[in-house]
Order: sequence, then C-alpha cells, then structure tokens
Amino acid sequence: MKIKHLFIGCALIGMALTGCCGASNPIEGENYSFKDGMIVFDEPARAAGQESMLGFAADPIPVVRVGFIGLGMRGPGAVQRFTHLEGVEIKGLCDLEQSNVDNCQRILEGAGFPKAESYVGPEAYKELCERDDIDLIYIATDWVNHVPIAVYAMEHGKHVAVEVPAATSVAECWQLVDTSERTRRHCMMLENCVYDFFELTSLNMAQQGLFGEIVHAEGAYIHNLSDYWDSYHNNWRLDFNQKHRGDVYATHGFGPCCQALNIHRGNKLNYLVCMDSKSVNGLEKAKEKMGSTEFANGDHTVTLVKTEQGQTIEIQHNVYTPRPYNRLYQLTGTKGFANKYPIEGFTFMPGQISEDILPEGAQINQHDFVSNDVRLALMEAYKHPIHREIEEKAKQVGGHGGMDFVMDYRLVYCLHNGLPLDQDVYDAAEWSCIGELSATSAKHNSMPVAVPDFTRGEWNKLQGLKFAY
Ligand SMILES: NC(=O)c1ccc[n+]([C@@H]2O[C@H](COP(=O)([O-])OP(=O)(O)OC[C@H]3O[C@@H](n4cnc5c(N)ncnc54)[C@H](O)[C@@H]3O)[C@@H](O)[C@H]2O)c1
Repeated sequence: MKIKHLFIGCALIGMALTGCCGASNPIEGENYSFKDGMIVFDEPARAAGQESMLGFAADPIPVVRVGFIGLGMRGPGAVQRFTHLEGVEIKGLCDLEQSNVDNCQRILEGAGFPKAESYVGPEAYKELCERDDIDLIYIATDWVNHVPIAVYAMEHGKHVAVEVPAATSVAECWQLVDTSERTRRHCMMLENCVYDFFELTSLNMAQQGLFGEIVHAEGAYIHNLSDYWDSYHNNWRLDFNQKHRGDVYATHGFGPCCQALNIHRGNKLNYLVCMDSKSVNGLEKAKEKMGSTEFANGDHTVTLVKTEQGQTIEIQHNVYTPRPYNRLYQLTGTKGFANKYPIEGFTFMPGQISEDILPEGAQINQHDFVSNDVRLALMEAYKHPIHREIEEKAKQVGGHGGMDFVMDYRLVYCLHNGLPLDQDVYDAAEWSCIGELSATSAKHNSMPVAVPDFTRGEWNKLQGLKFAY
C-alpha cells in the first residue's frame, strides 16, 4: 500500500514538473522531454548576474601571453604557428607526457623563442591556468578534457581557444556559455575550416548576394582515419566513438554552413533529424583494438537541420570506410551554387556575374560549373579581406594549407585590438551540440530534436556575420 502511494506521489510530482497534461514526458535520467512530436532538451535559465556575450570585446591586449595545453599530434603545430605571430609570448606548455612538452620546447628554441615553463601531468593544467601572467589558454587535448580545462581557465580569468568540437554534450555546451557569460572571458572554438580559401571566398560571395537566397547548405567530415587510430593518446578517439552515436565531429562541415546562413545573427537552428548506418568497420576496429563487441557510432551518419529562415543543412560524418577526404561544402542558392569537394566549382544564372569580372568571351549557364578561368577570376575578385591581408604569409607558415595560421592570426589580431572574435561562445555551442542532438534523434528512430537557443532568445539581435577590423 505504502509503495503504491509513493508511486502515485512520484507520478504527480512528475506531472507537475512537466506541466502535467501529458504534453511532455521526461525520460528518467535524461535532460530532455517530448513536446509536440519533438525532443526538447532542457534549457537552463540565465543565472542572475550573467550577461550575453554577443558582440563582446575585451580590453586590448598589446602582447598576448599564451599557455598551450595538449601537445600531441595537433598541439605542436599551433605552438609552431604562434612563433610566426607578432606580439605574442609563449609562457607555458602542458601535456600528460614530458616528451611532448620537450618536443614543443625544441620548437620554441628553433624559432628563437625563450623557453616556456613546462607542466606535466593530468592536473598540471590547473597550475598553468592559475598563473597571473597569462591571457590566453589554447587547448588541444582529447575531447572529454576540453570543457573541464576551458571552464577552469575562464574561472581563472583567462580567455580560451579550444579545439573542435569544443564540447561533447548539450550540458557541456551550456557550461561553456554560462562560464563565458559569468566570467566575461572569450571562449572561441578553433574551427579552422571556416578560414579555408574556398569557404571564406564563398562566404564573401554569399554575403554579396551572388548566390541569390541560399536555401540549402551541405558539409561533412568524411575522412578515413584507419592510418591514425593507433596514434591518439590512450586510444581516446576510438574509445569516444565506441561509446557515442551520432555526428561526433560535425564542426568542420557545419561551421562554414552556419556562417553562410547567419546563425544567431538573424537566423537560428530550429531542429534536426539524424539517421545513421550500422557500424561495420568501426566495430571491427574496436574489436581488434579494444576487444569490444559493440560500437555506438555508425559507419556513416547523416543529419538534416532546419533553420528559422527556412533553409536546410545536411551534414555527414564517416571516419571509417575507404573514401577520398571530403568536407562537401555546398551552398545552394536561388541564383547560384558553390561546391568545394571533390572539385571546387561555381554555377550561376546568366547575368549573375558582373561583366567586369568575367574574362572576355566567357559564357555562363545554369547547368554546368563555370570554366576554370571564370572560377579563378571569381576567386580573385571575391577574395575575402582577411585573405588579402594574410594569405601569403599563411601559405608560407602552413597548417592545413594555411587556414590554421589565418585562424590563429585572427584570434590574436582581435585580442590585440580589443575586438569581438570571429567565432563566439554561441558558435562553439551551436556547432558542438550536434553530437548529442544527432545521437538522440538516431536513438529515437530519427525523431526531430529541437536545437537549443544558446543565446537565450537573442539570436535576432545581431544582423549578419561580420568580421571585426
Ligand atoms: N582543427 C583541426 O583541423 C584538428 C585536427 C586534428 C585534431 N584536432 C583536435 O585537436 C585535439 C587533439 O587531437 P590530437 O589529434 O592532437 O590528439 P592526440 O591524442 O595526439 O593529443 C592529445 C594530447 O592531449 C594531451 N592531454 C590529454 N589530457 C590532458 C590533460 N589533462 N592535460 C594536458 N594534456 C592532456 C595528451 O597527452 C595528448 O598529447 C582534438 O580535440 C582534435 O579534435 C583538430
């Protein structure tokens, strides 16, 4: 009898919490409910004393003093690129392995930079973040360490630049947003692909209306990692994918699409659906390396997102099967089309390109890619101001052909000049939350999942993506 009363009591409390009436059925232990045929994640209210970071600019920092955390395959490249930037000091280097720190000390020595302080061990990042002579913490650890380190750094007054994806769950995305808003520290995700030469040029063309109204965009991370699985520290990446379904690495494909569609700058992501294939190659690799009999991540995952302004975005993830590297990057507009992989090309309606730009005698039709000379003329005419400024040096310094250096250059340029960063904490959250949202859709037979509004209603406050100079 007592147990029955307890059960009814719990049910009533549950109804009260969910607004009763059966409109919403929370799943025990999950942070989402079902509302009007959609899965809706809980959206925490903004705490008192916390303010939006939209358009946030910190005071200018004439010399940016930086500490690097995570010096495996990715980190040393960042250290090396920073030695080519003016107005930076590298104060600290941190990793789990002494040998990785030593390797980066050699990079500094080779570039004529003073030796940095070394920090080694799983908690050593705390000591680095606690220093009072550091402005920026640059994080390139495995994914599950991103948020704990980023939060600790912001709590200790540091701006943060964090590798992709910035966060591994919706709750972690809110943690980054809330910490950044509370501490008034930048939290920029290091999404480098938005600075690649085709993407940024296409963005410039899109912003100047060359494609008409964009109605659909595509992006992907299709990269067979079979040559890399053995190289990740303690097998962190295969281990993560073994446990997590969905598009766990969406930001390279998704970020450039969101920029072209002005997400949280007059537009927003409304909901997504996701469908994934079974796991065959992923499971086989995990059997071999981990003795696993299960693998959560499908070999190929497709996610479709609908925006407030009525556009669709398709993103794909496949790091398992033999395929050429592909980030897709397509913009489909009412008057034109851009496509990056497997070949870079544009298609336009006749009359869409100014005669001043077209080489003599060039013909445009809306069924084919423009000829190579027209493409090159467009790439030159619409070269983004950021590339005009730094392309040559970026190509010399390198990092995925130069885009990584463009990213670091812009980060430091904006900090030097006290400007808003190109990517804010809401971009980091929107692009990273795709992992858990897509997994949740897939788990519920591709049910729609609402994308949280990390700006808490302010997505229409800024109009259009702008880069600060
Ligand atoms: N933007 C890009 O193009 C790009 C390319 C490659 C990797 N990445 C990202 O870079 C990050 C690192 O990837 P990777 O390939 O270098 O992996 P990795 O395994 O080679 O390196 C990770 C490093 O983090 C260190 N680490 C882990 N926990 C730590 C802690 N608590 N304190 C200090 N160091 C710690 C490890 O010792 C290791 O050296 C990932 O987030 C990945 O997604 C981005």
